[in-house]
Amino acid sequence: MAEDLQIVEGSRADKYQALIPQVAALIQGETDLYANLANIAAAIHEYFGFFWVGFYLNKQDQLVLGPFQGPVACTRIPYHKGVCGHAYRTQQSIIVPNVDEFPGHIACASASKSEIVLPVMDSAGEVLMVLDVDSDQLNDFSEIDREGLQAIIDLIEKNHTSWS
Ligand code: SME
Repeated sequence: MAEDLQIVEGSRADKYQALIPQVAALIQGETDLYANLANIAAAIHEYFGFFWVGFYLNKQDQLVLGPFQGPVACTRIPYHKGVCGHAYRTQQSIIVPNVDEFPGHIACASASKSEIVLPVMDSAGEVLMVLDVDSDQLNDFSEIDREGLQAIIDLIEKNHTSWS
């Protein structure tokens, strides 16, 4: 497929609706895990202009930085720390409207003000990785983002078994 995104104007919900099929097309036929995660992070980042978008992969008994777009970030997050660790432990997505009010938030960059993290699960119920999206605006994420990003996670969960 063409390696450029068609970016629509409109509400954030409209944008997710336009982005999701493009992400499906981006990963279609590609079996490299890091290539797909890199393009997914880039697509979300480019579409919405979020401050930081990336994946932390569950390996070596911690969450390890994977493909991302944005400023350099901490490389390893213990399961018991941060918003990412919370999403790992609860196996649930979490929206943090103000990161300064979240106990244990890991500040990779002081410009990050709000955050959403969603786990990617395998069919055995284990967390494979988390998707972390940071904004430089307070209270930037809502249920619209949770639903839109979850649709992208669903694509990963459906396809990852053929990726390596
Ligand atoms: N803030 C995250 C750490 C990762 S960075 O934001 C990229 C956390 O508290 O888990």
